[in-house]
Amino acid sequence: MTTGSDPDLGRVCEIIIFGGTGDLALRKLIPALYFLELDRRLPADTRIIGVSRREMKSDAYRKLVAERAREHLPTQDFREDEWKRFLKKFSFCRVDAEVAADYRGLSRHLGPAGDGVRVFYLATLPELYAEICQYMDDAGLVNAETRVVLEKPLGHDLQSALAINEAVGQVFGEDQVFRIDHYLGKETVQNLMALRFGNAIFEPLWRAAHIDYVEISVTETIGVEDRGDYYDSSGAMRDMVQNHLLQLLCLTAMEPPVRFEQHAVRNEKMKVLQALRPIRGEAVKTRTVRGQYTASVVSGREVPAYYFEEGVAPESNTETFVALRLEVDSWRWSGTPFYLRTGKRLARRFSEIVVHFKPVAHQIFDPDGGVHAGNRLVIQLQPEEGIELMLNTKIPGKGMALRPVPLDLNLAHAFKRRRWDAYERLLLDVLRGDSTLFMRKDEIETAWAWIDPIIEGWQAHYQQPKLYKAGTMGPDRANELIERDGFRWHENLVQ
Ligand code: BG6
Repeated sequence: MTTGSDPDLGRVCEIIIFGGTGDLALRKLIPALYFLELDRRLPADTRIIGVSRREMKSDAYRKLVAERAREHLPTQDFREDEWKRFLKKFSFCRVDAEVAADYRGLSRHLGPAGDGVRVFYLATLPELYAEICQYMDDAGLVNAETRVVLEKPLGHDLQSALAINEAVGQVFGEDQVFRIDHYLGKETVQNLMALRFGNAIFEPLWRAAHIDYVEISVTETIGVEDRGDYYDSSGAMRDMVQNHLLQLLCLTAMEPPVRFEQHAVRNEKMKVLQALRPIRGEAVKTRTVRGQYTASVVSGREVPAYYFEEGVAPESNTETFVALRLEVDSWRWSGTPFYLRTGKRLARRFSEIVVHFKPVAHQIFDPDGGVHAGNRLVIQLQPEEGIELMLNTKIPGKGMALRPVPLDLNLAHAFKRRRWDAYERLLLDVLRGDSTLFMRKDEIETAWAWIDPIIEGWQAHYQQPKLYKAGTMGPDRANELIERDGFRWHENLVQ
């Protein structure tokens, strides 16, 4: 077994999944655990206990896992014998999260804690977190070796996030709480830190003096799927910006931590959040764009307008697109705008960070070749995984006319290994007790404290989102937001 230097991985381990019959467990968590088992990363004798309100025997649960979770394993990675062995680890315990007495049943099901690691994964509605933690404690299920994993969204605003953190904190110490943002588990997102802090060539240039602007985009082609209810009360700002996009911003803008360790890394991320210039009141009109998709035909298929999606209120003005112009008021970044953008039902799915370096101070080459663009570093997170550095290069046979040409690193080609899913890495880190890639309480709260005034500003000054046709890149206003500063989104730059 590959335990490396992690003593915790040598210990008995129990993973209890609240919401064990739900979509997240069956689509993401259990496949990730299977891969960990396949790679011999799970401690021997690991038990996985599905918990939900449904009446079900352990055999029926194993059958459900065998059918539903199996669908999410690529055929080339499936091993029948390993899968059968893996299924034996599962059992089921019925618990209504809101009924204290049910936790005594869970306690009996689990038996004495021993000195192993117990992980409670709460893949439930966040409104239940406080109650679940309290009832677990009352039933004697919590000790110093217990860890709790909380899925996003952590609250709806600062106040609700404070209430969750406070209630969870009554039962668990901060080092026992693992707040997931699955973007931090993505290999390419970690690679952003490797790129910045493992290569000396970027650091001297990574500052306002050399960088015109930075774009962070997470665009999706899917709509709200079967989550209309949740999404309509959330919107793109709470669903994506408050967590994934701000985390990407932190990793892009933070100072080098003194070591790659949970406190050092999270301290530096926190400083970025604290340095975000607030966007309040009428400023939302000039520094933010909120959009909502309308019906269209995308790839030959008719897609409905957002407000016709199931679970969405007919007159809903929830945003499915957000673009922001923000500033980080720090020594390093003063004067460099950051543009963030995310949306559903857009023309293409991609997540990327584009760093636009300033052009050379004085151009000496063929003026007919046009103005030379500054260098661009494009960090592609998904679906492509790579890094492109656009360099101005002489066009053969054309005097000294230059054109940007990419220096291209394709990570899939460079490393021909199976890609880890974000949840594999994060679950393994929970078992190891390493919370570097998880969000600390104060990060969540500071992020909400910055987001809340924007949402309040929208309510007062910008209630109606700008409409955009499904299958486009969002409302025109998003282009105006960046072009006003003399810049353009990456995909609009002429090569
Ligand atoms: C989730 C959001 O956190 O992230 C979804 O709730 C979104 O709305 C998803 O679709 C995107 O994640 P990924 O890994 O597919 O980019």
